[in-house]
Amino acid sequence: MGIIEKKKIEGILSGYKKLSIATVCSHSALQIFQGARQGKVHSIGICTKDRLEFYKSFPHARPDEFLVVDSLADVPVEELVARDAIVVPHGSFVEYVGEKLDGMAVPVFGNRRSLQFERDRMKMFSWMGKAGLRIPKTMKPEEINGLAIVKFPGAKGGMGYMIVKSEKEYWEKVGKKKALIQEFIVGVRAYPHYFHSIFSEAGYKTAYGHVELMGVDRRVESNAEEIARAVAAGGNVPLSFTVVGNASMVMRESLLPSFMDIGRNVCNSSKELFGGMHGPFCVETIVTEDLDIYAFEISARIVAGTNVLHHPYAEFTHGEMVSTGKRIAQELKEAFRKKKLNEIVY
Ligand SMILES: Nc1ncnc2c1ncn2[C@@H]1O[C@H](COP(=O)(O)OP(=O)(O)O)[C@@H](O)[C@H]1O
Ligand SMILES: [Mg+2]
Repeated sequence: MGIIEKKKIEGILSGYKKLSIATVCSHSALQIFQGARQGKVHSIGICTKDRLEFYKSFPHARPDEFLVVDSLADVPVEELVARDAIVVPHGSFVEYVGEKLDGMAVPVFGNRRSLQFERDRMKMFSWMGKAGLRIPKTMKPEEINGLAIVKFPGAKGGMGYMIVKSEKEYWEKVGKKKALIQEFIVGVRAYPHYFHSIFSEAGYKTAYGHVELMGVDRRVESNAEEIARAVAAGGNVPLSFTVVGNASMVMRESLLPSFMDIGRNVCNSSKELFGGMHGPFCVETIVTEDLDIYAFEISARIVAGTNVLHHPYAEFTHGEMVSTGKRIAQELKEAFRKKKLNEIVY
């Protein structure tokens, strides 16, 4: 299925009399609903029966309304349009819905083309290259010489990724499965999250607005995080990267200008490649002992690291704690008021 024409989405938007915010009940949904509530925007949770109890259990972060579905991959497009909803895509949303998102006849916050770039590793690399980011080398099996990380298709939260040290080990462990082999970067992982706005003048100026730094987090991964204990105890355990949670971090302040440049370059290159990004996004980086910043992925939407609601950088920008969920509601409300939703929604 091809991507739906922008005109069709504009047609749908022109029928909207009010604004509501919808997302799938997973990933960062509680934060998105809380943000909508703080901004006094009606919120809609797309939810399966088995998750209802959980998503009803937080009075300040539950959606105002639930649309119950059999599978989270079935987005009830017509019901959403009937409720004047803008869909906020998050990591699980992108994973469950996959390519169907391209054709979905409902307005999506941001630019759905950015999610095509997130989905396709080759497109992602071309984007990161255009942004001038320093990226880990991609290798063929015969080029493996030292630590390499092997990644399988689909964002599964790092699940199943492997480390190999030689071509021989690669063929033994991975075989003919389709995989990406990348130089393993040794350093500290840091995941800066940003927000691009066409209205705000905070942050760094981009080719089509401003980009704010909202926060920085670190993914807490099993078993990578705690493997030192097993090794110290004499275990010989392979390293793995299944994401279990996130923790907030602050950066050495002298690194922050480089992170701001990275955010701006990603926005500017997105403008050239596919018309620009709006709202939240994240660049996944590793900072080496020489303070070189390697970027290995861009998430072109809200990331789970923003669920750590308290980040100082958003507070430095807004003078108070503003979560990415609240920032989304603010931006959509301003666009709605100024009749500019079609500029930040596709
Ligand atoms: N080039 C690399 N060097 C070292 N560690 C890496 C590299 N690429 C990924 N990782 C580790 O693997 C995890 C998952 O990788 P990523 O490509 O972000 O997969 P996902 O699509 O699941 O988010 C990262 O959070 C990081 O811990
Ligand atoms: Mg990632």
